Order: sequence, then structure tokens, then C-alpha cells
Amino acid sequence: MFIKNIKHKNIFLDGEGDNWFLRNKKKLNNPLKDSKIINIVQNIIFNDKKKKINFLEIGCSNSSLLLNLKKQFKNIEIFGIDPSKKAINKLKKKGIKSYVATADNLQFKNKSIDIIFYGFCLYLCDQKDYKKILSNADKVLKSKGSIIILDFYSKKIKKIIYKHDKRVSCIKRDFTKIFTAKKFKLIYRSYFNYSDMYETDKYNEHDLMNIAVLKRGKNV
Ligand SMILES: C[S@@+](CC[C@H](N)C(=O)[O-])C[C@H]1O[C@@H](n2cnc3c(N)ncnc32)[C@H](O)[C@@H]1O
Repeated sequence: MFIKNIKHKNIFLDGEGDNWFLRNKKKLNNPLKDSKIINIVQNIIFNDKKKKINFLEIGCSNSSLLLNLKKQFKNIEIFGIDPSKKAINKLKKKGIKSYVATADNLQFKNKSIDIIFYGFCLYLCDQKDYKKILSNADKVLKSKGSIIILDFYSKKIKKIIYKHDKRVSCIKRDFTKIFTAKKFKLIYRSYFNYSDMYETDKYNEHDLMNIAVLKRGKNV
């Protein structure tokens, strides 16, 4: 049977973002993940401790990271976006400036964000949107801004059917390549297994993940 190609982002905007949030809302407090990201932010802003920092999490759902960053750094202004209306409503009630949106369509002022964090969402984004995702990051990020990616990692690109909706395929790949293709260079990367950071009853050899940091400039 012919299945119409619906964009993943529309599936998430039309309900799967909310469903993800409802399935996972009890697991969204992850101190280990938060401390790793807080450490990286600390390193990025080491020389600019007094400067006001604008931090944006893309694919934030209602995760604990944004509030923990706010507790940790007095000079940080935090923003979040996610396709889930339910998750964003919850975040708004906690006083976080957050919006229903997707990675390819960032409605922030040009050159206004110091750090963009792709919070384990690129594996769900449409491959067709990668160019737009890059150009949107380039547009809203300040000239000395940084990108942090937390996501699956695979040397070769793999496509796996998303078990909650067969119209969506999850991508496992080196997502830094979206950004190093133009404009950005990789300055730090660490690898770990999914089960090292997230609750799971299964161990799968494909579930290798990475945290990567990129800055503007060419790879050498
Ligand atoms: C695995 S969850 C990660 C949630 C949170 N950042 C965390 O680490 O717990 C992936 C999130 O990406 C969101 N998402 C899916 N497609 C997206 C897109 N195109 N742009 C931005 N976020 C997206 C989903 O709604 C979901 O909240």
C-alpha cells in the first residue's frame, strides 16, 4: 500500500511531541545528563563569567536541564523550543521562555543566542531539513557562539523505524557533519552508551551516543 510521505516534524507538531512527553514525563529529571551539559557550559563561558549568556535548548520537552542551568549560573537567560504544546505549557508555568517550534524554524533575533543545545532531537528531524537547521543556527547564533549536540552517534548513517509511529524513521549518524559541512568546526567530543545516561532495560550495541561542541570556523 502507498503510504504518503509526511514530514516527521508535522507528525511531532500534530501530537507525537505531546505523546513523547506524556510517555516520558516521569523520566525527564536526569541529573547525570544535566551535570555533563552544565560542565560543558561552564567550560564554554569560562572566560566570560560576567557576560549575560543566552542559552537555547532545541527539543527540550519539559526536561530538568533548563531550570538546573538557571540555578547554576546567575548570568544565564534560558530559552526552549519543542513541537509539544503540552511540554511547552508546563515549561511556561515554570517561568521559562519557551515556544512550540522545530529546529528548522527558529524565531529568535539574528545573532542573539550564545549557546544552542540540540537536546537529543536531531535523530528525529527530517533529513531534508538539515540545510535549514544549519542556516537557522547560523542566523540566530552570535558570531562567537557555540553549538552543543547530544545525540546518537554512528559512523555510517543508519535508519531505524521509530517504534511509536512507523511513518517516522530515526537516524543514527554523526550529526556534527550537518554543521561542519559549512561554517562550524568540531572542538570537543565524548562518547558514551545510551544505557550509561538513560534508564533502559535493554543494551543495544547500536546505541552509541555522543556529546559534541562546535564553534564557527573551518575544520583543520
Ligand atoms: C528524546 S526527546 C529529548 C527531550 C529532552 N531534550 C531530554 O533530553 O530529555 C526528543 C525531543 O525532540 C522533540 N522533537 C522532535 N522533532 C523535533 C524537531 N524537528 N525539532 C525540535 N524538536 C523536535 C520531541 O518532541 C522530543 O521532545
